[in-house]
Amino acid sequence: MIRKVSTERTATKIGGTTKKEKVTPASPIGIFDSGVGGLSVLAEVMRQLPHEDVIYLGDTARIPYGSRTPQEIVKINREIIPFLLKQGAKLIIMACGTSSAIAYPVIKDEYPVEIINLIEPGSQAAVTASRSGKIGVIATSATVNSQAFQDKIRELKKEAVVSAVGCPLFVPLIERGLVDSDEAKQVAKDYLKPLLENGIDALILGCTHYPHLAKTIQSIVGPGVKLVDPAEEAVKQTRKLLETSGTIRKESGPHKYNFFVTGSTIQFQDIGSRLLGKPIVGTKQISLT
Ligand code: DGL
Repeated sequence: MIRKVSTERTATKIGGTTKKEKVTPASPIGIFDSGVGGLSVLAEVMRQLPHEDVIYLGDTARIPYGSRTPQEIVKINREIIPFLLKQGAKLIIMACGTSSAIAYPVIKDEYPVEIINLIEPGSQAAVTASRSGKIGVIATSATVNSQAFQDKIRELKKEAVVSAVGCPLFVPLIERGLVDSDEAKQVAKDYLKPLLENGIDALILGCTHYPHLAKTIQSIVGPGVKLVDPAEEAVKQTRKLLETSGTIRKESGPHKYNFFVTGSTIQFQDIGSRLLGKPIVGTKQISLT
């Protein structure tokens, strides 16, 4: 469904005044997550939309989202999205499975820009990837408890058998950059065991931190299980929306990636650069509360 294709928008109220802003192809895409997880989505944006400018926000002061209540997650999203709009974002990608599962259905119509979430794209890609219809989902506890992926997969394929496991130990390991550690391998084995016992042949990486662990996860589940990163399909959708609204950036001039965090800039840049495989520089610390 294509909505909100106008390139003129009235910005949300900032400091009591309502400002008219012009969204143009040169406007950036806003991307956010609780930390370095969304960098796996940024990598996909860099691959599929290499000419776009990006504003990335890592809400590292409040990580992990996965153990927060739905009310907290909605409130956090309502603080982040106006910040990205104030920076001129023409479209927002919720590069966070937890926000996509819990906040998206509540706030999706509250803002004057398109918001891309990961649930439908990830579910669609998994249904396409699975031959047996036995689909696994790993995500944060909040996402698993929300049933968002489980419901969407069954909506797309009635006879699908979905097994979902919350993996709360992954995010702290990944935020510390321990993606190849023995600890990560052991924890992954424990989490994946019940899914393998259920005979899955496709596995949704339902938290954006997890693609950073893809090598470890693939080595445990073996070649018979297709890993599904929702970002690939979500960025395809993003591309289509930008094309339809005439706001895709076509020229290949120098482009900017601006990073903001709510916690330590040093740690984000250090771990983030390693995970993204590109240097992250000039990160600014901001406060959203
Ligand atoms: N990367 C996020 C997700 O996709 C959030 C992880 C967390 O903060 O718990 O769910």
